[in-house]
Amino acid sequence: MNTNLSASVPSQLETDCLVVVVLDRAEKDKGDKEKPVPTVECNDAPVRDAAREAIASGEVTGKPFETTLLHRPAGLKAKRLLLVGGGKAKTFSAAELRKLAGAAVRTLKGKSIRSFAFALPDSGVAASDAVIAVVEGAFVGNFEPGYYKSDKKEKDKKIDAITIVVAGDPKSLETALQAGRAIAESQNFARDLINEPSNLMTPTILADRAKKMAAEVGLGCEVYGADKIKELKMGAFWGVAQGSDEPPALVVLRYDPPGASDKVHLGLVGKGVTFDTGGISIKPADGMEKMKYDMAGAATMIATMRAIALLQPKVKVTAIICATENMPSGKAQKPGDVQIAMSGKSIEIINTDAEGRLILADGLCYARQLGCTHLVDAATLTGAVVVALGYVNAGIFASDDQMYERFAEANKKAGEKMWRLPLDDEYKEVIKSNIADIVNSGGRWGGAISAAMFLKEFAEDTPWIHLDIAGTAWMEESKPWIAKGPSGIALRSLVEFVKGWAA
Ligand code: BES
Ligand code: MN
Ligand code: ZN
Repeated sequence: MNTNLSASVPSQLETDCLVVVVLDRAEKDKGDKEKPVPTVECNDAPVRDAAREAIASGEVTGKPFETTLLHRPAGLKAKRLLLVGGGKAKTFSAAELRKLAGAAVRTLKGKSIRSFAFALPDSGVAASDAVIAVVEGAFVGNFEPGYYKSDKKEKDKKIDAITIVVAGDPKSLETALQAGRAIAESQNFARDLINEPSNLMTPTILADRAKKMAAEVGLGCEVYGADKIKELKMGAFWGVAQGSDEPPALVVLRYDPPGASDKVHLGLVGKGVTFDTGGISIKPADGMEKMKYDMAGAATMIATMRAIALLQPKVKVTAIICATENMPSGKAQKPGDVQIAMSGKSIEIINTDAEGRLILADGLCYARQLGCTHLVDAATLTGAVVVALGYVNAGIFASDDQMYERFAEANKKAGEKMWRLPLDDEYKEVIKSNIADIVNSGGRWGGAISAAMFLKEFAEDTPWIHLDIAGTAWMEESKPWIAKGPSGIALRSLVEFVKGWAA
């Protein structure tokens, strides 16, 4: 999608469609039954005039994601005027604006419109932040998961170009635009990897895609196979990988810019299970097809590295991707088996379906060995996090409050929904083993927490954050601003988090 900035007066802009935001400026709160005061957020009088009748009719209220399309609006050079509701003016922020831009894209591409102009609302959000939000929202809204549909017409329904209408310093707005693009296209890159079915996204293919991306944006990249995994004594990772005919891959992506402090080295570790059958503790058939997205954590970390390479913050970052299938076979590990992790800890495998924590255990250990001072992992780790937080919030676990505060700030900026869950020592009880140091499954209750407690054993004393994205990496339903399918959750928070450390 092409992106342009224009300082033109909105009414004078020639475009297939001009999009403006309508906010409800009613003063009283919910309790009092006050009529909405829909207001066109554009200080160009002809635009407000063109919308006047639609608003007077009561059809336009400004409620979130309400869309009204007017043809040949009088006094405007645009062929169409799209009014998008943005909710209450009081609570309007960049997060709402991002979604509105996505909703505009999804509305217009459905009508086979290929290009449009989005007039930034004057209120609430600073111009550069607004440009970033609109670019991000537009790219996210333009993504469609129907890769393998043979109906080309359906597949080609995309927006080709967006013009953002905004006044301000052209240079700083252009910088904002490019930053928005770097983040948004990286988020879609993650979604692209996640969307692929497991026969077309094996560990080898995932590693190849990472390598290709690294070459394009100038990251260091090493891809290792089974030999290296065994040589590093990654017994937990190999225990999972041994059951599959598809070779595993250990991918290291390196970003080490000149001028970065040598005291901070961020490590991003991603769960890359390209298909999770459960192994010998096999999953039921119902819904198993969804386990192609069990590599979403890996995709997110790979794509985060892409965004970082483009944005160039001055901080050293290394990503470690553990990619494998989890398969039942004659070579597969079995319940009761004991594996020795890279750190030397022994693990009793209670359930071969708790495989994510096994591969991450060695990923985290390796990140520490590479000198990472702070660790973040992202993983579709547990069904239990979906029980706890539903499909709305991702789970955050943090071993270090200071690091958590930094992450929470980045998360807020990014406008992604996440919620912290506890890591009290008491939860460690459930991962004690009779025969080894720990078991790999703490059972049903508090399952997202016991999984995190397991990982904590391998992060050891390095400050660490774990993101359980099992409920949020895949949209179960489409929303006005995003298609059903891979969401790309966590990438924006991670990019903000990394930027926050820049010297
Ligand atoms: N990949 C799954 C978790 C998952 C569930 C991801 C639903 C996305 C949606 C993970 O490997 C798994 O199977 N976890 C088990 C752990 C249990 C055996 C302790 C689970 O959550 O049931
Ligand atoms: Mn599993
Ligand atoms: Zn899994």
